[in-house]
Amino acid sequence: MESIEAMLALDESQAPLSWPAVFGNFGPVEIEIGMGKGTLLRHLAAAAPERNFIGIERANKYLRLAAQRIARDRQSNIRVVRADAVYFLETFVPDASIAVFHIYFSDPWPKRRHAKRRLFQPRFVQLLERKTAAGGLLHIRTDVDWYFADIVRLFETETALAIREKGILDAAALPREMQTNFEIKYRATGKTIYALTLQKSACGGSGPG
Ligand SMILES: C[S@@+](CC[C@H](N)C(=O)[O-])C[C@H]1O[C@@H](n2cnc3c(N)ncnc32)[C@H](O)[C@@H]1O
Repeated sequence: MESIEAMLALDESQAPLSWPAVFGNFGPVEIEIGMGKGTLLRHLAAAAPERNFIGIERANKYLRLAAQRIARDRQSNIRVVRADAVYFLETFVPDASIAVFHIYFSDPWPKRRHAKRRLFQPRFVQLLERKTAAGGLLHIRTDVDWYFADIVRLFETETALAIREKGILDAAALPREMQTNFEIKYRATGKTIYALTLQKSACGGSGPG
């Protein structure tokens, strides 16, 4: 398998994507947004060969590295895509089709004049809710306390997703291979890691699940 085969080629005339056509099976699909070098994504996919994984990353350098490693390990249940996450979700991802979203250590853009660059905005959290399958999960982690509070507030005000877990993530709760590169780096410096898990109701509608 050449490295390029792990990369998903995007063609708007074919949108939205059909997951069975992409993966050749009907397994559930998980998406990691801003996967960096794909270290966690590859571990998640290796641990669950019956599930399918998409990694979205807009930095080409990281994306190519991830694709090469996926090809080297012949991991056929992963595709990576170079795209802005909002564009990819809006254009290519069918509604209610994603079993699990993973979004870890999204850039906080702390300066007020850069706030518009933050991924977590009303439109983005509404989009996540729409793309999540009935009963599906969203996992979010950050090392930034005020951004964590903002993210929690956004989901509470903009979506009907139920909060399942919210708070400090104990280092012992996660084996090292289930941590991202940034998480390993931050934990080594003694930073606190915050985690949020949300769930869409089993019937896919509003209200508690
Ligand atoms: C701080 S890094 C975290 C990387 C990885 N999740 C980790 O924890 O090691 C954030 C990553 O998200 C990517 N990113 C930021 N905004 C994005 C967007 N709108 N669409 C796709 N990727 C994005 C960046 O290129 C960067 O690689």
